[in-house]
Amino acid sequence: KKFDLCVVGSCNVDLISYVDRTPKIGETIEGNKFEKGFGGKGANQCVQAAKLGGKVAMIGKLGDDVFGKEYLDNLKKLGINTDHVSITNEAATGVAPIIVDKEGQNSIIVILGANLLLNEDDIKKAENIIRQSKVVVCQLEIRQETVAKTFEIARKYSVLTILNPAPMSGKLNQDLLKLADVICPNQTEAEILCDINVETIDDAKKACQKLHELGSRIVIITMGSQGAVILNEQGQCEHVEIEKCSSVCDSTGAGDSFVGTLALLMGRKEKMSLKEQVKRACRVASQSVEKKGTQTSYPTKDELRFNLFE
Ligand code: RIB
Ligand code: NA
Repeated sequence: KKFDLCVVGSCNVDLISYVDRTPKIGETIEGNKFEKGFGGKGANQCVQAAKLGGKVAMIGKLGDDVFGKEYLDNLKKLGINTDHVSITNEAATGVAPIIVDKEGQNSIIVILGANLLLNEDDIKKAENIIRQSKVVVCQLEIRQETVAKTFEIARKYSVLTILNPAPMSGKLNQDLLKLADVICPNQTEAEILCDINVETIDDAKKACQKLHELGSRIVIITMGSQGAVILNEQGQCEHVEIEKCSSVCDSTGAGDSFVGTLALLMGRKEKMSLKEQVKRACRVASQSVEKKGTQTSYPTKDELRFNLFE
């Protein structure tokens, strides 16, 4: 296959304000720094995989505006296939105003714009790219119908489907759980999906079982500093512990760094155990929080403090 993975998902320009603390309602505070960067959960995952040396393709939609042009250049410079990143004049490029506080914690607003116009026809046109990929990854910053179409096509060609159900705002179309070979929510997303509290490792194991029963063969729930809980292909639940992050500067997009790395390992290193894949993806993501920004903070293969593929 030509591509390790393709991502069908969002591209947003991130407008990040660094502040001591998040302002209260009606309050004006002075920030410390402003930065513009390239983000969007879909593209972030694609970029992380590309930076690690993956052969990757992005399928998405941008507006016919300055942000859109800059975004396309960014993807091309990283060597990402953009044959199916289309441009619309009916909506603006997605943007994400973000606040990052002193602890490196973020609050994000997304205005999805053009991302919401990515439709089933766009996916049909990209069928050839999906067919030539080992793995296809989707998130929820595009319409769920578009995700469903993507996974249907992927299934036709036995391409592994990964769903990162982020952000989880409303209801998830339950068919998506059946179409996803792998589902990879964080703690809060798992709570919403399963309608149970997910605080402890035991809670997460229950949530894994439930998501498995709902249709996903493989389940990975990320638990912040507690690491992750996985349900592997053999149906076993395991807790994956992680090393403590050294210094948290900006955690924005760390989840996407994790998903992008995991998808790359699933495409490239099929024989590696799920536990090991998850452990390595956690290590890459925790390196990303040491630097400011989203995509700019993602480590390249050479910057990694360990060998990802061996
Ligand atoms: O997950 C982080 C991302 O969420 C940001 O890059 C922002 O664009 C939003 O999509
Ligand atoms: Na970061």
